[in-house]
Amino acid sequence: MTTFRINGRAVTVDVEDDTPLLWVIRDVVGLTGTKFGCGIGMCGACTVHVGGRPTRSCITPLGYVAGAEVTTIEGLDPSGQHPLQKAWIDLQVPQCGYCQSGQIMQAAALLKDFPTPSDQDIDAVMAGNLCRCMTYVRIRKAIKQAAAEHRMGATNG
Ligand code: FES
Ligand code: FES
Repeated sequence: MTTFRINGRAVTVDVEDDTPLLWVIRDVVGLTGTKFGCGIGMCGACTVHVGGRPTRSCITPLGYVAGAEVTTIEGLDPSGQHPLQKAWIDLQVPQCGYCQSGQIMQAAALLKDFPTPSDQDIDAVMAGNLCRCMTYVRIRKAIKQAAAEHRMGATNG
């Protein structure tokens, strides 16, 4: 039995400790927003946050998150109104959409580290998140738009 928190609620699962977190999230907890791309930590489609840091859930064993806080795309903002989610919709970023929850989770971590990200910051932090549909230009634009809204929110709040 392993207990951890996911999107603010505690869950206890009866799964082998070496099971990839991705499959626990999708098949046991039932949250399917996190996607399987490569399974070897090379594409970023499966990105979630563990303890607030971006983590490839396909290569993270369940045992690693015992007692930890995991956040998936479903928990990024309770109402789906995170500045990144709003910017993604506003700029119509996704094409097929498959990589996009991983892109947004990686971008959310980026904004914590770089409140005013440059193109170089974005390229460096997002380099491991691949998009078959080549939405990179829109992703970069949306991150900048979200960063601006985020800063405004911080100023107003
Ligand atoms: S599915 Fe995890 S990095 Fe590709
Ligand atoms: S939107 Fe299709 S893979 Fe990124």
